[in-house]
Amino acid sequence: MQKEMNKIDIVLGLQWGDEGKGKVVDVLTPGYKMIARFQGGPNAGHSLVFDGDSFVLHTVPSGIFRDGTVNIIGNGVVIDPVILMDEISKIEARGVDVGGKLVISKRAHLILPTHRALDAASESAMGKAKIGSTLKGIGPAYADKTGRYGLRVGDILREDFRELYASHKARHEQLLQQYPPFDLPFRFDEYEQEWFRAVEQMKRFPFIDSEVYVNEALQAGTSILAEGAQGSLLDIDFGTYPYVTSSNTMSAGVCTGLGIAPSRVGKVFGIFKAYCTRVGSGPFPTELSDADGERLRAIGHEYGATTGRPRRTGWLDMVALKYAVMMNGVTDLIMMKADVMDDFDTVKVAVAYKVGGEVTESFPYDGGKEATPVYKEFRGWKSPLGGLRSYEDFPQAFKEYIAFIEAETGCRVSIVSVGPDRNATVRR
Ligand code: GDP
Ligand code: IMO
Ligand code: MG
Repeated sequence: MQKEMNKIDIVLGLQWGDEGKGKVVDVLTPGYKMIARFQGGPNAGHSLVFDGDSFVLHTVPSGIFRDGTVNIIGNGVVIDPVILMDEISKIEARGVDVGGKLVISKRAHLILPTHRALDAASESAMGKAKIGSTLKGIGPAYADKTGRYGLRVGDILREDFRELYASHKARHEQLLQQYPPFDLPFRFDEYEQEWFRAVEQMKRFPFIDSEVYVNEALQAGTSILAEGAQGSLLDIDFGTYPYVTSSNTMSAGVCTGLGIAPSRVGKVFGIFKAYCTRVGSGPFPTELSDADGERLRAIGHEYGATTGRPRRTGWLDMVALKYAVMMNGVTDLIMMKADVMDDFDTVKVAVAYKVGGEVTESFPYDGGKEATPVYKEFRGWKSPLGGLRSYEDFPQAFKEYIAFIEAETGCRVSIVSVGPDRNATVRR
């Protein structure tokens, strides 16, 4: 008898990224045979902490450190070969055999050195209005994809790959001439040489039709977890446009980024921090520029895992969280980093926005640029969560905080993370 076709579960961020997706995927991986990235690229920085050591992944799925897992870089991802191969050599230096555990979609697009230059040129030209991009070439690479000019992983195997590359580079150089002078954050010629070396090295991994691979695996009853990058408020369609990334970061992105039908989506694990952070420009209604904001940054080590930039910090935003839960069809919430607020006397949550004298609970078109948050205050739990491993042991005040979030979102918090280590995790 044929096995029942499996569904694909999803882990994704509900805020502006950096919610702790890397940690959660690493924690959940033992329950899955395959882990797949479906969008984004090396703008992502996913941190994993185990055995007293930490690791940051940018393109490789966060299942790579667990034995017996296949990690898939799906068609929706954009790949910088230099960053990918550098990452792989660092993983291999830890004794992990990446060779047998990583496959790459032929349809994933390549980030060219000139995409990185275009990113830098565009950001520099925008001055104060800049997006605050990670400068990894993400926007220009996706623009070429939708503009139907992109180079794909499968093209690497073409005999005329060098000529193809040259024609793309020439087109990009013409575009670059239209920008005012700007600083290139890398040496172009060196990077280009490295890029070609990395392209050659990539060939040791199977370039596959990952949509067929994934669907056949589901058909055979294989369990698959899709790993989101960035967060819902950075989604190209529903995020705080234009201060967003260039891909669909939401659950719907799994369908196009891996080639599976909506009916194949199973659980949607929505991850959120117990507060908020944002790195880069754009609206952030609950942002704190006071001592509490500084405390969140210091205790939470809120500095970018990819760029090292200090992250902006603020209170949890229920208006934005409910919007994200709605569009993703979240089935399970996962709460991260509440331990960072262990010593806070009070904890605030925005339950509505005041916009021009009107109070609204709807997430506004402009992302809340003109919004003043309406807060509900909670008493702090004032005791360390980090050592706790069971929900029953949580302090009452913290349980009340969780219960409020569940009531507001209509979604159960099924996992609570209380520290960066994979073991600092409480399942209900
Ligand atoms: P991602 O991009 O969503 O994978 O998140 P990042 O790795 O960029 O940022 C999350 C940061 O928080 C990392 O430094 C993690 O090690 C850390 N972290 C994850 N979960 C927790 C937690 O529950 N408590 C604390 N204190 N740190 C955490
Ligand atoms: P992970 O997966 C946080 C932000 C950038 C900038 C905007 C556009 O680690 O959560 P881009 O380089 O994509 O053109 O930048 O998006 N951004 C992230 N912020 N976490 C990320 O990834 C991010 N990836 C991009 O800071 O504001
Ligand atoms: Mg990150």
